[in-house]
Formats: sequence, C-alpha cells, structure tokens
Amino acid sequence: MMKVNGEFGEEIPHRRRFSDGMLDNDRILGELDLRPGQVVADVGCGNGYMSMLFSRAVGPTGRVYALDLCIDVFLATFPDTVPANVEALQCDFTERSPLEDGSVDLVFMSTVIHSLKRDRMPGLAAELRRVIRPGGMFAAVELAKRETGFGPPIWRRYAPEDLRAAFPFTPLGTVPVAEHFYLQTFRVE
Ligand SMILES: C[S@@+](CC[C@H](N)C(=O)[O-])C[C@H]1O[C@@H](n2cnc3c(N)ncnc32)[C@H](O)[C@@H]1O
Repeated sequence: MMKVNGEFGEEIPHRRRFSDGMLDNDRILGELDLRPGQVVADVGCGNGYMSMLFSRAVGPTGRVYALDLCIDVFLATFPDTVPANVEALQCDFTERSPLEDGSVDLVFMSTVIHSLKRDRMPGLAAELRRVIRPGGMFAAVELAKRETGFGPPIWRRYAPEDLRAAFPFTPLGTVPVAEHFYLQTFRVE
C-alpha cells in the first residue's frame, strides 16, 4: 500500500485520493432526492464521478457545476465526454466562487471539509449561504472521527456533531454511506 507523509512527517497508509468506489452512491442519491431540472454544485469534485451521477439525476433541463481548487483531474478524467449539463469550474470555494447568488438547489461536498484549514470554515459557510437558494440543501460526506486504518489524522476529522456545530443551517439527518463514512444533510433557510 502506498504511504504518504502526515502532518508531522509520520508515514500514514493512503489507499486512494478519491472516494470513487468506496461509498454507497445509491444511498447518497436516495437521501439527496434530486429532481429533473435542479441545479447541483459538486464542490471539491476531484475526478468528478459524483458529478456524472448528478448529471443523470437532474437531466438535460438541470445543471451540475463541478468545482475544484484544481480542476485538472476532472478535465483529464472526462476529456471528451462531459455531458452538456455539466460545467467544470476552478475555484477556492472558501472564497467567492463564480456561482450566482441563490442559484443552487444542492451543494454536495464529499471528503473535502476535513482537508480545509479551520480558519477557512467561516468563508465556506458564507459561500454556502450565498449560493444555495432559500430552502435548498447542503450535504457533506465525511470519514468517521475514529481510527479507521486509513485517511487523515483523527484531529483533522469531523464527527457529525462537529459539522452541525460548524454550519449555521438546519440539520436534516445523518446516515452511514459506507463502513467508515457518513452523510450529513442540512436545509439552508
Ligand atoms: C479527498 S478529495 C475528494 C474528491 C471527491 N469529492 C471524492 O469524494 O472523491 C478533496 C478534493 O477537494 C478539493 N478541494 C480542497 N479544498 C478546496 C477548496 N477550498 N475549494 C474547492 N475545492 C477544494 C481538492 O482539490 C480535492 O480534489
């Protein structure tokens, strides 16, 4: 197994950079309950595999924004095959993104939040509130805050209650989406 250096130079096991193939995507899509015509932002999309599932769920009248700090991985994964309803954008979502005010029904962030420096969280919360329409949803997948044998150090991780404390939105629910991963959903009023 590949090893990477942790925060303090220690070697930690690292199986893969993306959650592709690790999560129960049907369960996630069931919880998100997307409808044709809706607008989704997959923030920190990585290779964009969830953006492709969202693209199918919202259909040709909907729109998916695949956003990442470094959009090259997405563009390399789908060089000629990006559906017409998907737009790839490079941005730091803890600052102002190119998305319009109140333009998005759902922001989805899978295994991104633990990687943000804590002082970026207020910026993230402000950007979520700006782009999600009133009544829209914010959904985050994160790794459980316990020893799992892989992934970031425990102190970087968020338990569901940590996410609920970090975002001033109405919690909807927490469901397991793999042995060590959970989905936390919020309503943004
Ligand atoms: C562990 S990967 C997860 C990728 C994908 N969501 C998945 O589940 O496979 C985290 C991704 O978040 C992106 N990211 C980190 N900070 C970000 C930020 N401030 N704004 C946008 N994207 C960010 C990284 O570039 C990386 O592609």
